[in-house]
Amino acid sequence: MNRYLFTIITSIPAMMLMTCSSANQTQHSSVAAIDSTKGLKDYYKNYFPVGVAVAPNTLRGDLAQFVLQQFSSITPENAMKMGPIHPEENRYFWRDADSIVSFAQKHGLRVRGHNLCWHNQAPRWLFRDSASGKNVTKEVLLQRLKDHITTVVNRYKGKIYAWDVVNEAISDNKDEYLRNSLWYQICGEEYISRAFEYAHEADPAAQLFYNDYNEINPIKREKIYRLVKSLKEAGVPINAVGLQAHWAINEPSEQQLDSTIKRFADLGLKVQITEMDISVYPKEHNARERKPEDANTVFSSEKENSQLEMYKMCFKIFRKYQKVISGVTFWNISDRHSWLDNFPVRGRKDYPLLFDKDLKPKKAFWEVVKF
Ligand code: GLA
Repeated sequence: MNRYLFTIITSIPAMMLMTCSSANQTQHSSVAAIDSTKGLKDYYKNYFPVGVAVAPNTLRGDLAQFVLQQFSSITPENAMKMGPIHPEENRYFWRDADSIVSFAQKHGLRVRGHNLCWHNQAPRWLFRDSASGKNVTKEVLLQRLKDHITTVVNRYKGKIYAWDVVNEAISDNKDEYLRNSLWYQICGEEYISRAFEYAHEADPAAQLFYNDYNEINPIKREKIYRLVKSLKEAGVPINAVGLQAHWAINEPSEQQLDSTIKRFADLGLKVQITEMDISVYPKEHNARERKPEDANTVFSSEKENSQLEMYKMCFKIFRKYQKVISGVTFWNISDRHSWLDNFPVRGRKDYPLLFDKDLKPKKAFWEVVKF
């Protein structure tokens, strides 16, 4: 039975577990892993769907049962990005994306589509004229964008309820508004509104998101705000803002998080937490070379406690804004595997999620479901 992935070897009822003091929480991990008739999605069913980023191989075997036990929504981690799904101009690669969507259909999960337009993981052919080897014109690039979005959104119409339409168009550089990507260099700002229009034409019922990271930084937040506000005012079909939430033990502060969600809510837009993880290392936004201190990758009790406090605070704020927040998605399932194991430092093990490498709930899990 799906909901009983963990073997029950004790008769301690779940309710008792939930009322134990935090001093006893080390025991929780083991006992909870055993009982756990409730998943994250169940604790939060009156608040918002709880989702997770997946790959096709995640959805086979035991991990599939675990996903079904804990989550009510999935996001393809890579399978729907422009490069993987559209490797050549006249060739789409549907297998991985299809398998994720059919898993969701079979088990009644929601799917967030991720993503339709991004500067990263875009196929080489997209920006290039094959004859001259130079960049294509704006007209050609917008036409390619339209073809791509129309084809992909159409294929999953009615099966994907929300799309990250444009990902990370804002610059991290404090003196620059939009990222100086090939999209921007070739099309100017227009590609952003066009992407939303194409997506809306293809599936008028889909909820359309602008999605970005470092959204808690006041300077970047204001740029994201400026963008979505201008789209909204121009009548562009945007429904929501995705806060990626790649955070860490040292950020965000409660005040930062609260004011970020409030800022977007005041625009009348829904907000989703789309890629949540909490690194146990202080946040760094750029990849860098390894330093001697990076050798210390022990998940110490100090790291565990800082992470637990951060998760606890974040979910308290999410619950506070339950009318605005329409979903919270984690970026990866457990500490067994995370992109943060290789970012910002290659091969530095991180522990950013609520489940350990054996899929057992961590102390932070119990803080998140205790309210
Ligand atoms: C960004 C993207 C995601 C993913 C993460 C890192 O946040 O939106 O698709 O690539 O980076 O894994």
